[in-house]
Amino acid sequence: MKDFKGKTALITGAGNGFGAEFAKEAALREMKLVLVDIDGEDVQRTLAACKEMGAEGIALELDVSLYENVKKMVSTAMEAYGSIDLLINNAGIAIGGVIWETPVQDYDWTLSINVQAQVYAMHEVIPIMLKQGSDCHIVNVASVAGVITSDGLAAYHMSKHASVALSESVLMDLQAIGASIGMSVYCPGFVQTDLHHYERHRPERFAKGDDSYYKSTAYQNVLKRAEYVITTGIPIDSVGMSVFIAIEENQFYILTHPKYFPLIGTRCKDILEGRIPNIENIPR
Ligand SMILES: NC(=O)c1ccc[n+]([C@@H]2O[C@H](COP(=O)([O-])OP(=O)(O)OC[C@H]3O[C@@H](n4cnc5c(N)ncnc54)[C@H](O)[C@@H]3O)[C@@H](O)[C@H]2O)c1
Repeated sequence: MKDFKGKTALITGAGNGFGAEFAKEAALREMKLVLVDIDGEDVQRTLAACKEMGAEGIALELDVSLYENVKKMVSTAMEAYGSIDLLINNAGIAIGGVIWETPVQDYDWTLSINVQAQVYAMHEVIPIMLKQGSDCHIVNVASVAGVITSDGLAAYHMSKHASVALSESVLMDLQAIGASIGMSVYCPGFVQTDLHHYERHRPERFAKGDDSYYKSTAYQNVLKRAEYVITTGIPIDSVGMSVFIAIEENQFYILTHPKYFPLIGTRCKDILEGRIPNIENIPR
């Protein structure tokens, strides 16, 4: 996708972090914006910043981990602007912890927002893009955690590997029919965003209730670790521009942290050579 001006960008998780940066980058390129987030105030703030840049757009407060809400998001976008040219499936959370302690509902929550939300949006938007027949593009925000594995992050790795595999498979299905829809999967390492404050986006159906795990030292350590890795990540400044350049260049894998490349190689070798994955290979 080379031309952005006047086209419509639909961006989930646009209230903070990457999503807000993508919205501003789309605004710079004079796109019409449909910005979506579970946090209404945050997404309105992003929209206001984009409007100050001269952009036209709407903001929707929706939990995109529910199919009904994704259908509403897509129909509202079509009613507002009549096309969807760029879809960025960005909304996500990152829960740490070990599987034998973490309540299983946190695996359900992680899958619902990091994977199912992307499934629902592509299921609804791709038929619209095919009908349009114009140059369109989809970005699924995964993570470098989708191409490597490490300890303490099983739910997140599970979901991000699924997002990468989903993106690769959908791309091939689009290639098989000669569709004019480009696809990218964004796989960064740690970046300074609001990701460690994921608890504030917990939907009611995954409420903590009186589960003592959430008061445990184990969970407090999970939260502390999340805060440490996100606040010491790379600055967010270049994220919007680098992803939009990748869209222009129809780049599929968008990897931003070369320091993880050896780990990707190690994982591939482990698979090909029948080796056991080794925690010793993970830098501390
Ligand atoms: N920050 C990093 O280091 C990093 C690294 C790799 C991948 N990612 C991925 O980037 C994406 C964006 O994360 P971020 O780092 O900008 O975090 P963030 O918390 O700053 O932004 C995520 C946004 O998604 C929204 N959101 C959460 N659940 C939602 C739901 N159910 N429905 C609608 N919106 C919802 C939040 O309200 C928030 O505004 C995520 O998919 C994350 O996994 C982040």
